[in-house]
This record gives sequence, structure tokens and C-alpha cells, in this order.
Amino acid sequence: MNRTLEKLIEAATQAASGDNTQAWRFEVDEAAGRIVISVDETRDPSPMNAGQRMSRMAVGGALENLLRAAQQSGIRVTTTAPPPGAAAALQWQEPLPKTPIQPDASIFRRVTNRRPFDGRDVPHEVLETLQRETPALDGVTAHWIVGRDRLGDWAKLIGRGDALMFSERSMRLAFLAKIRFDAPPDAEVEEGLSLASLELAAFDRVALRSMPRIPNWVVRWGGVTNFFAAHARKLIKSSAGLCLVAAPDDLAGTDVTVGRAVQRAWLALTAQGLQAQPMMSLIVLDNALQYGSPQLIASLRRERLERLRQEVRALLPAEADGRPAFLLRFGYGPAPSGRVGRLPLAASVTERSARTDQG
Ligand SMILES: Cc1cc2nc3c(=O)[nH]c(=O)nc-3n(C[C@H](O)[C@H](O)[C@H](O)COP(=O)(O)O)c2cc1C
Repeated sequence: MNRTLEKLIEAATQAASGDNTQAWRFEVDEAAGRIVISVDETRDPSPMNAGQRMSRMAVGGALENLLRAAQQSGIRVTTTAPPPGAAAALQWQEPLPKTPIQPDASIFRRVTNRRPFDGRDVPHEVLETLQRETPALDGVTAHWIVGRDRLGDWAKLIGRGDALMFSERSMRLAFLAKIRFDAPPDAEVEEGLSLASLELAAFDRVALRSMPRIPNWVVRWGGVTNFFAAHARKLIKSSAGLCLVAAPDDLAGTDVTVGRAVQRAWLALTAQGLQAQPMMSLIVLDNALQYGSPQLIASLRRERLERLRQEVRALLPAEADGRPAFLLRFGYGPAPSGRVGRLPLAASVTERSARTDQG
């Protein structure tokens, strides 16, 4: 593959993905000047990803990185209608440069930081820059929520969301299965989550390791869910704010646009020296109502999910039209103790040539 193409796809794969599952597949047709991006549904069958919605958002993040890296290198790439079953397609007309390109450092520096932040507010000018960098994208809008009272309200709700999500057995086990207990804590694992990236105290790491063996009633009634709720509240309260991305509809293509909008927000935060972490339990639970299996909805209890959905909608900023699609907390603080790595490119790329297809 052309070195420039390789570099563009490497930039794409630096995007965030639910539990570092990297459920993207790039089908590259160099001769035709085309890349088709699809969701690889085998990579994340977890109930948190019901209907593959989280994976579609990850693909959107990858697409945004690719477009941005191309633009920064003076390569003219346009998005085209994806073929049936695919999430996105890109086309270029002119030959790609042979000398490797150097995409924006923020693409490679962006990282999930699960540490408590230092509680400092973001200066007004910085907030204005963040707003300017995140205009509406095909009806998907980004909202920057700041102010201690508003954050306090969100902290309570997100705490409840985390407690509910982790008290559901299949979700808890799916999350635990993504943790790389088999690797050294600070290893940049190719997939899944390293222990260091979770930023837990030594005692909590041990508790997490034994959790798959703990009966569900102990988790529910033994204070474990309270731990998750309190931890989430503490994280939100240590933050300067939340970035909420709202979507105008439920269409699959909109999930990809949400992923693009989130990536724009996260890159803007990174460029400003701010740290960020998705806090997705409320979105995951909302999504369960739409795409979850009947068993999952019954286990979470439909009426509880519906009540939570209403409470979340009541907290949305007045100007946020549509459904809440992504929540990212942000703030100032030290770099994360550990970051995760990526699969080799070959694991996510299929090369095909138009000529071979026709022959
Ligand atoms: C759709 C989506 C949902 C995510 N949900 C959470 C979350 O609820 N909590 C969290 O700590 N990280 C969450 N993440 C972050 C991923 O775990 C992270 O992107 C992945 O492990 C790769 O690490 P990196 O972002 O440091 O490159 C989410 C990412 C995406 C794209």
C-alpha cells in the first residue's frame, strides 16, 4: 500500500472506540482511489454496543481523523454515498503524494483520561474556542455544559447510570472481559483496556479481578454499585465541564456523524491542553431501549430505563434538539498513567483492486 495511504489509515485508527474494540474495517481500492469503511460486527458483540451503535460512532471518529489528516496534507478527499452495508466511503481523484505526510499531532495525542481532573474551570476564551471549533454537523450539535450546579445535577444522574449499567450482569461481565488482566498493568495492549488506563487504586484492581466470580445479588446489594456511582460522581465533579453531543434522529448514518462531531470536540480539547473521558452509561442505557434484546430490557427493567431517559432529557440544555448521543467530561489535569495501543493496521485493512474485481 502507498505510504501516504498507510499514514492516513493509521491516523484514522487513532480514534476512540468503545472499550478499545476498534470495530472498523477499511477496504482500500488504491487503483480506484477509494476507501470504504464498515463496522466489523464481530469485534464488539457486547450489550453496551446493542445495534452496533457505539461501533458506528467509533467509525465516525476514524472517518473524521482520516478526512482531517488528508486535508492537512493537501490531499483532496471527498465523502461519497457508502455502498449498502458500509458506514462511509471516501474518494480521491489525484495521485497521492509518495512522501509520507505528517498529520496533526492532536490526532496522535488524544487519549482517554480516567483520572480525576483538578477541578479548575475553563477560561471564557477557551470555551469560546471550543464552541467555535464544533459547529453543527448535518444537524448533530455539540453543547458545552459548565457551572458547578449543572455539573452537580449531571453527576447525580451519571452516577445512577453507572450503578445501573454495572449492576446488570451481562453488561458487567462484558466490560470485565475487555480488561487485559493477562497483560502487565501498563502495557500498551493492542486491544481491550490495560489496567493502568483504568486508573484504579491497588485495592480496586483486586476487587475488579474477582468480580466475575461474585454472585449478582452481592454486587447489587453489597455496595459494589454504590462504589461505581460514587466514583462517577467524583469524576464529574473534578471536571471543568461536559460536552454533550445531540443527534436529530435515530438513523444509523447519524451515529457516524455523531462520531465525527465527538472527534472534533475531543481534538479541540486536546489542542487546548485539556483532558477528556467519555461517560457513556446514560447513553448506553438509552440505547438499550432502542436496540437491546428483550432479555436485556427486562433485566434492566423497562420502566426504570424510561424514567432515566426522561430525567436525562429534562437536564438537556434548552438549545439541544434531539436525543443525547454522546457525553464527554473534560478538564485540566495530569496525563493518564497508561494508555492503550492499537492493533496492527493489517488487522483492519483489506486491499482490493478494481481490476481484480472485474477480472
Ligand atoms: C462510543 C464510545 C464509548 C465509550 N465509552 C466510554 C465510557 O463509558 N467510559 C470510558 O472511560 N471510556 C469510554 N470510551 C473510551 C474508550 O474506552 C477508548 O477510546 C479506548 O479504550 C481507546 O483508548 P484511547 O481513547 O485512549 O485511544 C468510549 C469510546 C467510544 C468511542
